[in-house]
Amino acid sequence: MSTLKSELESALDNGLKEIEIADDAKAVEEIRIKYLGKKGIVSQLLKSVGRLSPEERPEIGKTANLCKTSLAGAVEEKKKSLSSNTVDKSIDISLPGRRRGIGSKHPVNQVIDDAVEIFRRLGFIVADGPDIEDEFHNFDALNTPADHPSRDIQDTFYLPDGRLLRTQTSPVQIRVMESRKPPIRIVAPGRCYRRDTPDATHSMNFHQIEGLYVDKNVSLAELKGTLLTFAHEMFGKDVNVRFRPHFFPFTEPSLEYDFSCVNCNGKGCSVCRQSGWLEISGAGMVDPEVFKHVGCDPEEYTGYAFGMGIERLAMIRYKINDIRLLYENDVRFLRQFNYST
Ligand code: PHE
Repeated sequence: MSTLKSELESALDNGLKEIEIADDAKAVEEIRIKYLGKKGIVSQLLKSVGRLSPEERPEIGKTANLCKTSLAGAVEEKKKSLSSNTVDKSIDISLPGRRRGIGSKHPVNQVIDDAVEIFRRLGFIVADGPDIEDEFHNFDALNTPADHPSRDIQDTFYLPDGRLLRTQTSPVQIRVMESRKPPIRIVAPGRCYRRDTPDATHSMNFHQIEGLYVDKNVSLAELKGTLLTFAHEMFGKDVNVRFRPHFFPFTEPSLEYDFSCVNCNGKGCSVCRQSGWLEISGAGMVDPEVFKHVGCDPEEYTGYAFGMGIERLAMIRYKINDIRLLYENDVRFLRQFNYST
């Protein structure tokens, strides 16, 4: 009996070793048949059980069961691990990995972030206001008369309740001056809305950055210095700034400002239509009427304000000739601004 037991045990040992080194499913199956098949080694060994005494049988029965279940278990395990290995083998690990498009900052946001960063260094902090404004903040407090053409329903999107989508970021000036006392030095980037017919230079939804500096003795020269510094930081040291007289209800004097053409250095080219200058936006000294609306004493304080068209800056910076490209979200276009890859 002890021979039978040790024979079963060594069959188990050998079987496990063979399973261990088998390297495909076919070989494992052959080992299973060799040991556990009807005519397999284990069955052959158990044929002699009949010769054992009844007392000896339970012990051998136990050993035989252990032998069978262990071998069957090992066969299953091996088959499983081989089949998962097979999947792995089907992958060519020498191939380069699949690239994931991680996206990139939209050029409009890129310009906003860079502009804010420049103004931050000049001591401005960021302020914010709602896209849905009331007439008071968008027009009245900005000294815009009731019959001013910009208030016309043809220019402004009105909501049924009389509120409107802000046509400019200038209402943030009002909100800031209502809520804090000078000195004030803020920039306010954000969306604006106008009933414009979209074309290469117009969009119904665009972005501006508003700037406002209010303190004692703020001068127009400081406005020019700030805009010149901005132009240098954004477009390089060769860029110049010029002022042209203009009119805005909320500034006096008012002006429009241009940067010398970054494409031809002011010599004149197709980008600047031979003028050497690129129009950026409007600016001026805060009108005393505006100060009165927000309870700020125009005898004590002066200030300057400016606007900036973000899309305008982006188009200059990235040499884009149609504003609509910025909104179509064509990845072939946007991919060009992905600096991270
Ligand atoms: N809000 C004006 C515009 O949209 C620009 C501007 C801002 C002008 C601040 C003067 C001062 O055209």
